[in-house]
Amino acid sequence: MFEIGPLTIHSRLILAPLAGISDLPFRLINRRFGCELAFVEMINARSLGYRSMHTARMLATTPQDRPLGVQLLGCEPAYILRALDILKNYKFDILDFNAACPMRKVVRRGEGAGLLREPRRLGELLKLVVDNSQAPVTVKIRIGWDATCVNAREVALYAQDAGVRAVCIHGRTRAQVYSGRVDYQTIRQVKKALSIPVIASGDIFSPLLAKKMFDETGCDAINIARGALGNPWIFRQVQQYLETGSVPAKPSRQETTSLMQEHLRLCVDFYGQRNGVVIFRKFFTWYTRGMRRIRPLREKAYRIRTLQEMSGAIEKLNTL
Ligand SMILES: Cc1cc2nc3c(=O)[nH]c(=O)nc-3n(C[C@H](O)[C@H](O)[C@H](O)COP(=O)(O)O)c2cc1C
Repeated sequence: MFEIGPLTIHSRLILAPLAGISDLPFRLINRRFGCELAFVEMINARSLGYRSMHTARMLATTPQDRPLGVQLLGCEPAYILRALDILKNYKFDILDFNAACPMRKVVRRGEGAGLLREPRRLGELLKLVVDNSQAPVTVKIRIGWDATCVNAREVALYAQDAGVRAVCIHGRTRAQVYSGRVDYQTIRQVKKALSIPVIASGDIFSPLLAKKMFDETGCDAINIARGALGNPWIFRQVQQYLETGSVPAKPSRQETTSLMQEHLRLCVDFYGQRNGVVIFRKFFTWYTRGMRRIRPLREKAYRIRTLQEMSGAIEKLNTL
């Protein structure tokens, strides 16, 4: 159990924001297995003002999809203030500010991980967000810009001074993007320096790696990201391992396929048949990772356009 401002979170396993992935169906599926707090993917402060269908979908939620954090990306005060004003119409439990995205087009604008190079400016932006957000504010950072600039401790202290209620930290530099060694030591230093909770992420692919993150960093909670792709069971598995020390069995083929059917149905209900099936294709690949003789069926699934055909492809997995 830990607290983010006024919010008490019982589970220390959180579903991280994942651009293009952590939509409402994906979050609902992960919540089945013990994920309590989840995040919407990052939303650009500027594009929030356009009120497009795309952002409306990103912001969509239901009463079962709680507690929920929204994540804002930006660096221009005027757009950030407008975005915060729009977000007042939505009842998110947390507002997370992104200072971690490594994409070139993002950092070139001075947004995302680009802000790690200007800790003082990031602190000022966070103060603006804290002063104008209805929801408690958290920030997502990386350990630094590159190997020569690992400044997470300094950045996190600025964030704490600005009034954020928790720091989420990915244990890699911007230069590492999503590969290379996770730096547990720097996360530990951040945890030691702060009095607010620290939520750590980086390579949480198994119960053992989740425990390693807790043990080596002393973090309050972990953000599960790529480890949940096609594997929402990871929440149950990590929880059980932390409680009992035994690694639980993987889900059976039958359990996997019936969850896939449910996930597919949620996608179609949410996006409509055509888009829902297309969006589900990547999940088909993730759910079937490690299955033997899967290649021809996977290639076929990538061309499927109807609910009936996709459902049939999932059913076929039971006979492989
Ligand atoms: C495809 C993809 C999309 C991501 N989108 C976001 C995002 O929108 N906001 C964010 O803060 N982090 C995002 N991340 C970073 C993850 O939340 C997480 O911090 C990172 O992947 C490290 O965890 P992992 O090694 O366990 O995957 C993304 C990562 C991936 C792989």
